Amino acid sequence: MTHFLDIHTTPAEDLQAIIRNGRAIKDARKGLPKGTPDADQPLANHMVALIFEKPSTRTRVSFDVGVRQMGGQTMVLSGSDMQLGHGETIADTARVLSRYVDMIMIRTFEEQTLLEMAEYATVPVINGLTNRTHPCQIMADIMTFEEHNGPIKGKKVVWSGDGNNVFASFAHAAKQFDFELVFTGPETLDPEPALAGLYTIERDPDRAVQGADLVVTDTWVSMHDPQSARERRHNQLRGYQVNDALMAKAKDDALFMHCLPAHRDDEATSSVMDGKNSVIFDEAENRLHAQKAIMRYCLGK
Ligand code: CP
Ligand code: NVA
Repeated sequence: MTHFLDIHTTPAEDLQAIIRNGRAIKDARKGLPKGTPDADQPLANHMVALIFEKPSTRTRVSFDVGVRQMGGQTMVLSGSDMQLGHGETIADTARVLSRYVDMIMIRTFEEQTLLEMAEYATVPVINGLTNRTHPCQIMADIMTFEEHNGPIKGKKVVWSGDGNNVFASFAHAAKQFDFELVFTGPETLDPEPALAGLYTIERDPDRAVQGADLVVTDTWVSMHDPQSARERRHNQLRGYQVNDALMAKAKDDALFMHCLPAHRDDEATSSVMDGKNSVIFDEAENRLHAQKAIMRYCLGK
């Protein structure tokens, strides 16, 4: 059984192959209307469940469109509408769903939910974001970087802001794809200790971005963070906003990324998000192509 649960638990050569396939899948569809079926229909006769315990725009639409282009059918389920949200165990849910569908994508809160789903499902399970990681996003981000600026190996990536779930998947990717990762943010919002050794810390954002090939940020308040922490987080993170002055200290051709959704003019200014170095909408598009490659990988197609 091939699941796609995390970047550090997927072999590096498989990750490289997924990125290559994502690009080939994208190239093969250039200019076609979005509803055009892919020529080889690898998911013909396949049923895929997309489970969301949190809101989503990109993950929901990109997986749904991707499955349909590959000839499969989808079922989008909200956690609260399922018995899962009303006391049925994850293990039972996993075993039941496996009798109906050929693959499960789940966006959830606790990582344990994802891991239990994978343990008990008899079909592949894909991580569509947990409180700890967001691997599909980072696969799209690596694909995007390489499209614009060539191999990411040996490059300098700087994360400014909250040491959150998206950062964690970047940290896993730093090891697997062999790039340098610098975290700049307040000590109170440092990444989780388990990620130690995968990145370095530079508290001063101006120093951190010197020589950067890529500057990345994300929302200051994630879906799993209590709204009551909003003001405190904003106060702690204000100095880590990605603005024109900060981008000017990175390399001239440094890219800017944000997984979206963004709070414009909080974590990044609109001038950066819409500026010449920004590739935020390419990242969003590449979710579709990278995830199609991930689904093919999981199903051995
Ligand atoms: N980047 C991302 O995962 O977006 P959604 O929350 O809209 O799916
Ligand atoms: N860190 C954000 C990412 C959203 C795609 C969150 O978890 O809410």
